[in-house]
Amino acid sequence: MTRILRPTETGIAEAANLLQSGGLVAFGTETVYGLGADATNPTAVAKIFEAKGRPHFNPLICHYFSPEAAFSHVHATATAEQLADTFWPGPLTLVLPRKVTCPVALLAGAGLDTLAVRIPAHPVAQKLLQRLGRPIAAPSANRSGRISPTTAAHVLAQLEGRIAALIDSGPCRVGLESTVLDLSMSPPFLLRPGGVTTESLEAAIGPIQSGITPTQAESPRTLRSPGLLLSHYAPTLPLRLNATTIAPNEALLAFGPPLKNASLTYQLSGQENLTEAAANLFDALHWLDSHAPAQNLTAIAVMPIPPHALGLAITDRLTRAAAPR
Ligand code: TXA
Ligand code: MG
Repeated sequence: MTRILRPTETGIAEAANLLQSGGLVAFGTETVYGLGADATNPTAVAKIFEAKGRPHFNPLICHYFSPEAAFSHVHATATAEQLADTFWPGPLTLVLPRKVTCPVALLAGAGLDTLAVRIPAHPVAQKLLQRLGRPIAAPSANRSGRISPTTAAHVLAQLEGRIAALIDSGPCRVGLESTVLDLSMSPPFLLRPGGVTTESLEAAIGPIQSGITPTQAESPRTLRSPGLLLSHYAPTLPLRLNATTIAPNEALLAFGPPLKNASLTYQLSGQENLTEAAANLFDALHWLDSHAPAQNLTAIAVMPIPPHALGLAITDRLTRAAAPR
């Protein structure tokens, strides 16, 4: 059952409580409705991919109450500060390097070392962020591959029963997603055109790069763009998928009852719960990578993960991590 909340003090307080306890809440922004989760809670973030039926762990935008809050989690450049002064709050998302202290779940950034941050201008989004006191990870509130929602009715038609609540925030003013600008490399690169025009960005900060030509197709920058992103983070140890036995040199990434004789194990989900496994995935790879060498383990054996629901995204991610490089 999805609760429909009014955009009042009471409704927003209720929505913040649901987010706080790990629930999903759709809310209005000036661009499109967002499907929000507490960005610092990996299980809540995993639920976003499940509710959307997303086949891949695309990185999500983290929404903040203020530029100061956003810049406490990422390294802001002078250009970022200037864009923030000019366009925030508003439909501009900046991709910047994560700080090591950033508490946002790794899954929200799909394991990347950058994070997309934005300050929404809609009063409902602002009040919700202020009330929660934490960033909200939110893609557009549609099922994967469907059209972005710009009214509460659009959201309900796609997500009713799949999310805890929806704040009816009226129709979205911009109706088109935010512009996504990558500032993690120079010159700035336009990853997605959107609510703020390229012309106005260039008027503020000078030339930006956009469009992907064939010669750029193999560049590191292209690998950061949507879809191809997931090959970016791979553990240093080789992965062996669908393991049903374990070799003496291998650490174990377990799903369900673990294989016998493993000397080092990370359990994704003892109960074989795919949402829990998705939430743990990036942490598991980091952890095994850093703990295996001390025990002279040189590879990671991965138990079979059923390739349905979130398992599809998990196997997609593991296959990319296991690919020869
Ligand atoms: O207007 C909007 O941006 C809406 C509202 C809810 O804020 N959100 C939205 O999110 O459109 P979503 O998930 O549908 O699109 C996020 C885009 C994707 O193209 C994703 O690949 C890109 O941002 N993105 C997110 N994090 C990134 C990162 N670290 N590096 C590169 N691209 C990133
Ligand atoms: Mg979208």
